[in-house]
Amino acid sequence: MAVLVTGGAGYIGSHTAVALHESGREVVLIDNFNNSSPAAVEAIRSLTTPDLVCVEADLRDRGQLNAVFEAHDIDEVVHFAAHKAVGESIAIPLEYYGNNLGSTIAVAETMVEHGVRKLVFSSSCTVYGQPDAIPVTERAPTGAESPYGQTKHMSEQILRDVAEAADLDVALLRYFNPVGAHESGAIGEDPNGIPDNLVPFVMQVAVGRLKKLGVFGDDYDTPDGTCIRDYIHVVDLAEGHVSALEALDAKLRGACTAVNLGTGVGSSVLEVVAAAEAAVGEPIAYEIVDRRPGDVAQIYADPAYAEEVLGWRSQRNLAEMMRDHWNWQSNNPNGFAD
Ligand code: NAD
Ligand code: WQD
Repeated sequence: MAVLVTGGAGYIGSHTAVALHESGREVVLIDNFNNSSPAAVEAIRSLTTPDLVCVEADLRDRGQLNAVFEAHDIDEVVHFAAHKAVGESIAIPLEYYGNNLGSTIAVAETMVEHGVRKLVFSSSCTVYGQPDAIPVTERAPTGAESPYGQTKHMSEQILRDVAEAADLDVALLRYFNPVGAHESGAIGEDPNGIPDNLVPFVMQVAVGRLKKLGVFGDDYDTPDGTCIRDYIHVVDLAEGHVSALEALDAKLRGACTAVNLGTGVGSSVLEVVAAAEAAVGEPIAYEIVDRRPGDVAQIYADPAYAEEVLGWRSQRNLAEMMRDHWNWQSNNPNGFAD
């Protein structure tokens, strides 16, 4: 029996592949390297087993997807593969709807055809939009503002409907803000071009690839005026997927269930910069610039339901997230190109 990890060469998929291997599973990856590289797969193999299978294919290619299910005894799927940049999704919405919804439908359809029951899906706290109350529970209203967010919201609905009709058991994991890297420094986040996200940007300033961080606004209604987010160590997140697969045979059996994966701790942009400075041992150059349209002032998870149904809670704090992200970035200033 094997677990199929779609988007397995990507940031969260690579860390989850390692955690799944450590849980004793046979792991099969599929990725089209649209936003990752074969070097990431080599690094995963160095942390797991040299014969870990990775199939290079687009999920929307039904023939290839079907062949993977036929060649390997797949009985669980973790579906990460998607485009994920909010700004880009506004510029090229059809590419986002086509890829993200097309992949989700292809995965669900192939699972049904092969009688595979257990699916873990990468959703996002973006489905909460501008939350009315924090911490955010899974019962909060959902909706999304960007085409990217819409693809997550719609994928959740598609999977709820398929679960009902075809007896799929699904965990919709709503991630907050993943950061950090595997403690070995062998795998980590390697964004293309200038990073959109805070921590990769900060780390590229620290390593000298970028000059200065722009802090998007310091006049929000928060203690230091900068936005608050729930940063979660990517290894904690990865472990949450192992717990979710196990819960699909226990408390989550027979349903399609949304679960927050966050720490429950909110950190401001300036607190993240200070934690990064402590990890790096040098100041990070930054300036306050205009607010970024669409940013919410503060959001963090209520992690209680994850603990109840998955038996999982995050273990690593902000200092550990920055230490491990810096370990990855400083050893690989140009990511997998090094
Ligand atoms: P990533 O871009 O590093 O990984 C996604 C992987 O999927 C890439 O390796 C890419 O090449 C692959 N891929 C994309 N489309 C494909 C297709 N059609 N066929 C085959 N492979 C394809 O992104 P990530 O940060 O690891 O995110 C993983 C998942 O988690 C995504 O679904 C993302 O939307 C979701 N998510 C990410 C974050 C975050 O901040 N990183 C937060 C919430 C949710
Ligand atoms: C974090 C904070 C910025 C960059 C995004 C997606 C969301 C989810 C997680 C996928 C904010 C501030 C950032 C910079 C800054 N992804 N910031 N200067 O926006 O919380 O969430 O990633 O599902 O859908 O929207 O993350 O890392 O972009 O920003 O001041 O150069 O850092 O304003 O307060 P965000 P982020």
